[in-house]
Amino acid sequence: MQADPSGDARSIAALRAALEAGYTHVDTAEMYAAGHAEELVARAIREAGVEHEALFITSKVWRTHLGYADVLKACENSLRRLDREYIDLYLIHSPGDTPLTETFRALNELQAAGKIRHIGVSNFDLDLLKQSQALCASPIATNQVPYSLHSQSYVDNGVLAHCQAEDMLLTAYTPLEKGKIGEDSKLQSVAKAHAASPMQVALAWLIQQPQVIAIPMSLNPTHIAQNLAAADLQLSDAEMSLLNER
Ligand SMILES: NC(=O)c1ccc[n+]([C@@H]2O[C@H](COP(=O)([O-])OP(=O)(O)OC[C@H]3O[C@@H](n4cnc5c(N)ncnc54)[C@H](OP(=O)(O)O)[C@@H]3O)[C@@H](O)[C@H]2O)c1
Repeated sequence: MQADPSGDARSIAALRAALEAGYTHVDTAEMYAAGHAEELVARAIREAGVEHEALFITSKVWRTHLGYADVLKACENSLRRLDREYIDLYLIHSPGDTPLTETFRALNELQAAGKIRHIGVSNFDLDLLKQSQALCASPIATNQVPYSLHSQSYVDNGVLAHCQAEDMLLTAYTPLEKGKIGEDSKLQSVAKAHAASPMQVALAWLIQQPQVIAIPMSLNPTHIAQNLAAADLQLSDAEMSLLNER
């Protein structure tokens, strides 16, 4: 994806709204807007005056950069754009064609050098996840995968159960099904009982599951605040069971 500077002001405003509301985890990637997203994250943090140490920044190396030298270079480029000494969590964005041994040799070196704090993967099936665990010098921190009420392929393929058994986080991306999840009638009925929005219930349902965290995206300050407040929403066992039904 090419950079689109015309959207910068809106992105910066959203990032600043999130930082000012109290979000501490920012998820980005070298692939987003061809690196420009990382530059905008750095700019928003600078403008908001938030200390780097108070934040947890995730970035990702793209699937065509998984060779040993390419990973090292991609990480340096991300560090420069993010204007940071280290990345808190560095993920393989999705599986590529390079042997994982090569990729992990570079990731382990970057971690030993203090340039990345934690290592993780994204869009990895159970077999690739287990291979990664065997090759990584530290525990794999997370597998970032699509997970939402109507998108449960990483439950069905055993990845969620494996993460829960191994004390690894599963990071749910597209948790709001790009804004369409609010049409679900079960979410609407649970939301009514809590005077919450269906989106908030969708997020609460995810993060109440062991080892699951979620990374909703929003450019709207009201939605940004609502999504953060979803962390305080407590669903009953009966509500969780209702939403678990498929
Ligand atoms: N690892 C990967 O391969 C991968 C792939 C895709 C995405 N991701 C990550 O996951 C993040 C989120 O995924 P996503 O953007 O695909 O989908 P998403 O978070 O499920 O949906 C985003 C959409 O939901 C709307 N929305 C958010 N909060 C809302 C609320 N409270 N009420 C109503 N509408 C709301 C947003 O509109 P408004 O802006 O109007 O609020 C936006 O259009 C991305 O930013 C990215 O970092 C990772």
